[in-house]
Amino acid sequence: MNLENFENEEKNIILIVDDNPTNLKVLFDCLADSGFKILVAQDGEDAIEQLEYALPDLILLDVMMPGVDGFETCRYLKAKETTKDIPVIFMTALSETVDKVKGLSIGAVDYITKPFQHEEVLARINVHLRLRNLTKKMQENSLRLEKEVKERLKAQQELLQLTAELEKRIEERTTELQQANQQLQQSEARYREQAKQLEIAFRQLKETQSQLVQSEKMSSLGQLVAGVAHEINNPVNFIYGNLAHAKQYTQDLLYLLDLYAKHTPSTPPEIQEYAEAIDLEFLVKDLPQLLASMKIGAERIREIIQSLRNFSRVDEAEMKPVNIHEGLDSTLLILHNRLKGGSNHSAIQVVKEYGDLPLVECYAGQLNQVFMNLIANAIDALEEYEKERTCQDNQAYCKQIRIRTQVVDDNLVSIRIADNGPGMTADVCQHLFEPFFTTKPAGKGTGLGLSISHQIISKHGGQMQCISDVGKGAEFIITIPIRARSPELAR
Ligand SMILES: Nc1ncnc2c1ncn2[C@@H]1O[C@H](COP(=O)(O)OP(=O)(O)OP(=O)(O)O)[C@@H](O)[C@H]1O
Ligand SMILES: [Mg+2]
Repeated sequence: MNLENFENEEKNIILIVDDNPTNLKVLFDCLADSGFKILVAQDGEDAIEQLEYALPDLILLDVMMPGVDGFETCRYLKAKETTKDIPVIFMTALSETVDKVKGLSIGAVDYITKPFQHEEVLARINVHLRLRNLTKKMQENSLRLEKEVKERLKAQQELLQLTAELEKRIEERTTELQQANQQLQQSEARYREQAKQLEIAFRQLKETQSQLVQSEKMSSLGQLVAGVAHEINNPVNFIYGNLAHAKQYTQDLLYLLDLYAKHTPSTPPEIQEYAEAIDLEFLVKDLPQLLASMKIGAERIREIIQSLRNFSRVDEAEMKPVNIHEGLDSTLLILHNRLKGGSNHSAIQVVKEYGDLPLVECYAGQLNQVFMNLIANAIDALEEYEKERTCQDNQAYCKQIRIRTQVVDDNLVSIRIADNGPGMTADVCQHLFEPFFTTKPAGKGTGLGLSISHQIISKHGGQMQCISDVGKGAEFIITIPIRARSPELAR
């Protein structure tokens, strides 16, 4: 029994093709004993027909047969797809090399020579069966490998396609995101711009509102002052106008009295008594002086009225050449009551150092408004400072406001208003001109005075700055052009 064949799970099938029954028997017995399954054909035609139904693992093929011989049968088998891979071993009595070569060239794998040597036949059959099986396995393997490679290639291709699709999608998504981002940035910029515009509009609104409040305040103050000045003006003029006549009449009467005294040597006692009672001698001396001081008083009232009128030029619509000193003086006059002090406050000394200023083209009323704000702030600060200090401190301290004017260059004048009050911290100085900035208690200050003053000076093409330090007082410096640069600028 052949061990190798026995090891195979399925028996190998061998087709023996021989026209000689003895040969067939010998081989059949030998191979069947070795565990092979045997098919038998007696000639070439028979073999070809059998191969239509069952395919053996190996064919032992006799060369010399009647009809279709071994060579022809082999040629046929090698040409056919189903049988071309079945190993064919020729069995021949011919020992000529020519026939062996012919057999091998047709496609046979081996040959065995009659008479058979059992061992040799089995050995050759087993070698070729093993070869056949190995080849089969190899073919199967290679087919499997080929299939696997194909599948892998397909999978790889699909992967590549997927990757490409993914990349495309990522690219599209990135573009979308970029666009969205861009739109977001644009709308953010738009919103920021709108917010900025709103802020500007709000600031303008606030400024307009503060201007309105202040100008309303100033215009009512101006109207009041103008009204008072107007009402007093007529009676004062009446007094002032008649004073000259009163003086003349008095002089005439006194001269007449003198003539009486000269030409009437003895004065009647009643007249004498009355003259003594009224102290005629003093009266005659004092009356002209009295009239003179009445005149001075009336003149002073006229000056005050002039100042009040000056101050009340709030609504003047055009720029006019103005005497700045008149504006300052009229403002001081309006604030006189606060400057002169009282039960709670000592008087504030006002030092005027007026330079030789030309007339300055400006809105007099608005400039007075600035002077008013600055001087009122200085008074507030000085009063506050006085309250905070001890009595001892205050004894050696004299509250002072110093006003200096001068021509800076051929088209610029400066007005400096300084006080020796508490001064300001750097932080307060920084916010000074902002609307609604105040350090005063609620209800006392609106925080508008300086912002409006700053605007007015800017409108005049000028500048306003503040120099101050804590404990060192404050000085506000205004510079404005003597001739306005352009009416538009001034408005
Ligand atoms: N001469 C000064 N000395 C010290 N502090 C001053 C002086 N002038 C202004 N300030 C400070 O500047 C702030 C702003 O002044 P601003 O005139 O604008 O407003 P206000 O006086 O507080 O209120 P109002 O609107 O009634 O004038 C004041 O609250 C004060 O703190
Ligand atoms: Mg103020």
